[in-house]
Amino acid sequence: TTPPKVENGSPSEITPDEFEDLSLLSKNDDSTVSITVVGASGDLAKKKIFPALFALYYEDCLPKHFTIFGYARSKMTDSELRNMVSKTLTCRIDKRENCSKKMEEFLKRCFYHSGQYDSEEHFIDLDKKLKQHEGSRVSNRLFYLSIPPNIFLDVVKCASKSASSLNGWTRVIVEKPFGRDSESSAALTRGLKQYLVEDQIFRIDHYLGKELVENLSVLRFSNLVFEPLWSRQYIRNVQLIFSEDFGTEGRGGYFDGYGIIRDIMQNHLLQILALFAMETPISLEAEDIRNEKVKVLRSMKPLQLEDVVIGQYKSHTKGGTTYPGYTDDNTVPKDSVTPTFAAAALFINNARWDGVPFLMKAGKALHTKRAEIRVQFRHVPGNLYKGSFGTDLDRATNELVIRVQPDEAIYLKINNKIPGLGMRLDRSNLNLHYAARYSKEIPDAYERLLLDAIEGERRLFIRSDELDAAWSLFTPLLKELEEKRIAPELYPYGSRGPVGAHYLAAKYNVRWG
Ligand code: NDP
Ligand code: BG6
Repeated sequence: TTPPKVENGSPSEITPDEFEDLSLLSKNDDSTVSITVVGASGDLAKKKIFPALFALYYEDCLPKHFTIFGYARSKMTDSELRNMVSKTLTCRIDKRENCSKKMEEFLKRCFYHSGQYDSEEHFIDLDKKLKQHEGSRVSNRLFYLSIPPNIFLDVVKCASKSASSLNGWTRVIVEKPFGRDSESSAALTRGLKQYLVEDQIFRIDHYLGKELVENLSVLRFSNLVFEPLWSRQYIRNVQLIFSEDFGTEGRGGYFDGYGIIRDIMQNHLLQILALFAMETPISLEAEDIRNEKVKVLRSMKPLQLEDVVIGQYKSHTKGGTTYPGYTDDNTVPKDSVTPTFAAAALFINNARWDGVPFLMKAGKALHTKRAEIRVQFRHVPGNLYKGSFGTDLDRATNELVIRVQPDEAIYLKINNKIPGLGMRLDRSNLNLHYAARYSKEIPDAYERLLLDAIEGERRLFIRSDELDAAWSLFTPLLKELEEKRIAPELYPYGSRGPVGAHYLAAKYNVRWG
């Protein structure tokens, strides 16, 4: 949600915690929201969606009248659903005292309906139950498709049937993957638009709901010290890094059909890139921001094979423990060439970014878990202090790091005189460490996105033309990789990934941060 405008006085008169509290939803007594989690028996629903809904309830952000329905084929009673959901709910650390009472209240508003995904009849039964709860109020409905993509359209067809009989809105949150290339994505969009208009479709990319990704525009557009530097004139390269220290454990079946490029790069990292690189939008309105993002994506060159390195993790034994390789998973074919790691260099052909490499790196089963944006600045021209750093001249450039997770932080590496009588310099960090600066727990991305969908705020959701532009960049490369069955470079589980990634960076005079 957009923070309130500060009309008079300086922003320092409002504390960070107050900013949060001011943005609560206005409560409307005449309307109700029914939230149906389709695929409620699944992993994402349990892990993320129900906990996020509870967190919103806990923070008093849900409308006064709301009902939550789980829908899936599994047979479950309301109380079995509540029991399942209750195991994953947690409370904010700073407000624990009311926790169990709030959980009880929340669970009372959760119900379950079992049905097939392609049965209009079963959705009519669901509709009847929803109506009982909605009564005579304006009935707004949100469907969350937390199901495999091959059944999205069946559900949308059935769920949208009742929309015309309602006096409120109907919205559908669609989870990734949105197809696996330009053609299948366009087919999905066409399919969805048989039953819904674009404004009803909320394509989720949960990285857009992460606190530091949301903060990117604030950092850039509201601080005079950054925006003037945000171009090829001062920035040498930008790195977008995603790494996980675990493999595809349990999701190998899904993953093998997609691979890391589709799973992380084409969506999460590319969305961050678009936000990072876009021109100043006319306003903070959703369409203005999304227009700018599309422009950046359309200014980019489709990825070239020579600018990409792919890898796949192999088994590794460390300290007596053997970590399985990707193809050791029973749901993955033994001869799979699906990449679990990729590094790529992308370029934006516009006046601001001409020639600046945007390097992406994403991998599973690496040595660490992190998501970061690293901005490496150019050398200071005619640097007076050259030679005062010891041997490594590269150290003399500034670097801005936006650590999206874990342990959120924004820090700027600057050159600094080491205190003492001599003239020796080192690099130190100007550090905004979130845990030290803000006492409030950072909300999960799904909380922000669910709240936005309920409020009809589309800024953080992907518009269909953005999606088309994103797929156009990756589809030719993905086809080439698959047609030529290009073998990924193997890297040991828990390592830093294939060395090829370093050669790729070196080709553009870049060193990974
Ligand atoms: P699941 O595989 O757990 O599926 C969710 C539910 O869908 C299952 O409980 C099952 O319910 C039903 N289902 C599963 N397979 C089929 C099938 N072949 N045909 C019909 N119904 C089926 O998925 P997740 O919860 O992991 O993910 C849901 C969606 O979110 C997917 O699109 C996924 O790509 C996406 N996603 C998931 C993430 C995660 O961390 N899990 C992260 C990001 C996106 P029942 O049998 O009871 O009907
Ligand atoms: C999902 C991917 O979109 O994002 C997963 O499908 C990945 O493979 C996950 O693990 C990472 O999300 P987060 O929020 O844990 O960084």
